[in-house]
Amino acid sequence: MAVERTLSIVKPDAVAKNVIGEIVTRFEKAGLQVVAAKMIKLDDEKAGGFYAEHKERPFFKDLVSFMTSGPVVVQVLEGENAIAANRDLMGATNPKEAAAGTIRADFAESIDANAVHGSDSAASAEREIAYFFAADEICSR
Ligand code: TYD
Ligand code: MG
Repeated sequence: MAVERTLSIVKPDAVAKNVIGEIVTRFEKAGLQVVAAKMIKLDDEKAGGFYAEHKERPFFKDLVSFMTSGPVVVQVLEGENAIAANRDLMGATNPKEAAAGTIRADFAESIDANAVHGSDSAASAEREIAYFFAADEICSR
């Protein structure tokens, strides 16, 4: 197993529900450490650039509109197999298909407001972490 870093976003719906702490607790209980964190309000350009891979998808406009609808908490998580571990904790993209006990099953209402983002590969994690954090904003412990 390898120590990895991954990018997590607590999305506007979960921030509005006041469950930032409950979500972060799940990361910590699973052995992932928060090594960088900030709360920000995305604008169209920042959210659209983040989701550039989905630019041609029919849901892109609504996705950007949702991601800019309120503040988000962006974090870097570090730990053994952090990328897959975070995806497991999150559950399936559609909360209706997410396994019981996952973050999306417990906190998300719909596929378009699904509580959390997590990088899906090592390459995505590297790009997404650099998209939000300068190297000196990440504090390995
Ligand atoms: P995707 O990268 O496929 O999912 P994940 O967040 O699990 O990596 O899609 C990015 C986001 O786009 C997803 O979290 C919610 C939104 N989305 C929709 O609104 N409708 C859809 O049909 C899909 C596939 C995604
Ligand atoms: Mg994705």
